[in-house]
Amino acid sequence: MSMHLTGRFPAYRPRRLRASAAMRRLVSETQLSASQLVLPLFVRPGRKLRRPVAAMPGVFQLSPDELLRETAAAREAGVPAILLFGIPDRKDARASGAYAANGIVQQAIRLLKRELPDLIVITDVCLCEYMEHGHCGIVRKGRGGVRIANDPTLKLLAQTALSHADAGADMVAPSDMMDGRVRAIRERLDRSGFEDTPILSYAAKFASAFYGPFREAAESAPRFGDRRSYQMDAANANEALREVAMDIEEGADIVMVKPALAYLDIIYRVKREFGYPTAAYAVSAEHAMTKAAAARGWIDERAVTLESLLAMKRAGADILITYAAVDVARWLSETGR
Ligand code: PBG
Repeated sequence: MSMHLTGRFPAYRPRRLRASAAMRRLVSETQLSASQLVLPLFVRPGRKLRRPVAAMPGVFQLSPDELLRETAAAREAGVPAILLFGIPDRKDARASGAYAANGIVQQAIRLLKRELPDLIVITDVCLCEYMEHGHCGIVRKGRGGVRIANDPTLKLLAQTALSHADAGADMVAPSDMMDGRVRAIRERLDRSGFEDTPILSYAAKFASAFYGPFREAAESAPRFGDRRSYQMDAANANEALREVAMDIEEGADIVMVKPALAYLDIIYRVKREFGYPTAAYAVSAEHAMTKAAAARGWIDERAVTLESLLAMKRAGADILITYAAVDVARWLSETGR
């Protein structure tokens, strides 16, 4: 397809197709659909608990009963899937809460799958919420300082993913960024009879300041150091393609780019290069910034949210993971976009 105007006559007048809302919809190249939204949710032990997260208006740490209510409402609004994070009562140096058969996430999965069987339950597979130090892997302290031990961590991640699948999770989503985790998880699932459980890999996950509010929500901020030795450097795009290629080779079914709005070039290149189902995660600070500006009346929350998500779609994302999923589903059913 040639993109060049050739000076043909009569002149091309793009505005002809912008004359009415119906005409604009007729020629729109990209659509938002509630069927591709995923809502992240946080579950913690307790009953009747809804603890607001300060920097994320509308987001709560929920006890399982409240989680069920919130999820049922999301389902009702047309959101087909959730991404589940757990906050355990106790943390330790082996993240044992992450793979405990009766851990908080495992309990929540069973409850949700029992009460809402057609809901797609995706679980975040990571150790940071369960580690006393808040890092995503096993920490080794040596003469060279602190480092995260890659291969020993893989076993714990695989065990975590298996415990989620065992509880009934429809899909597991490793977010730790250790090398080789997708293969380790795939092999472990296959050996245990879960060869049909897909893996949504946080394939190109950048070390980002946009995760700040999440760490309050998940109580997972590192106690020392940062995540730059395992998450990607924001300066790199070619490396993101290598990360995605590697995860696909290891068995990822869906690949994710995260954060979303500041990384549209990565989404675009990942989709172009691999053509795989691609997810974009509009992360906590993206949500916080929109909410904060909207609360001051500085932006139109609905218009900014829909335009941002549309940009992710236009870049090539299929699946949109967003804290605004329920609002978006409602807006789309009211008027569409
Ligand atoms: C866990 C994890 C994080 C996010 C998703 N999974 C935090 C981090 O890596 O520090 C961030 C999500 C968000 O900011 O909304 N590793």
